[in-house]
Amino acid sequence: MTKYITKSLDETLKLGEKLAQNFKFNIIGLNGDLGSGKTAITKGIGNYFGIKNITSPTFVVMKIYETSKNISKIKKMIHIDCYRLETYDALLDIGLMDYINDDKNLIIIEWADKISSYLPKQTIYVNFKLGENENERIIEI
Ligand SMILES: Nc1ncnc2c1ncn2[C@@H]1O[C@H](COP(=O)(O)OP(=O)(O)O)[C@@H](O)[C@H]1O
Ligand SMILES: [Mg+2]
Repeated sequence: MTKYITKSLDETLKLGEKLAQNFKFNIIGLNGDLGSGKTAITKGIGNYFGIKNITSPTFVVMKIYETSKNISKIKKMIHIDCYRLETYDALLDIGLMDYINDDKNLIIIEWADKISSYLPKQTIYVNFKLGENENERIIEI
């Protein structure tokens, strides 16, 4: 596990950009409290792929973005938020398994613990905690 401490939103965005260059698997599970930076790091990851307009999918469960930079095999970024999810069936209905089985998709899942038993064992988990100071976040991968 690697532990990062960021001291501002911008540092978390930058960390997301850096991590995006080195992902060894295309399914990323983000866990940690509300406001701990899960959506923020997703924006950073999106930046790396040339995606600019990322907003939290909390109310829609899933958003799909096309990558605009031809820098890897990844063609789409699928951003999922399980916070309000009541049944896993809802994700199946949306077609989660088809998205997961296509390695041209990068899948980023907030509150992934809620569905971890359905995710591949290679899933990369990132854990978020609030730090001691207001703008500090502890991010472990
Ligand atoms: N170091 C930091 N990293 C990320 N976000 C930070 C940091 N410091 C303050 N913030 C603020 O914390 C909030 C993080 O929100 P968000 O990424 O939506 O959290 P989550 O998706 O985990 O609920 C934002 O309002 C952001 O401006
Ligand atoms: Mg969020």
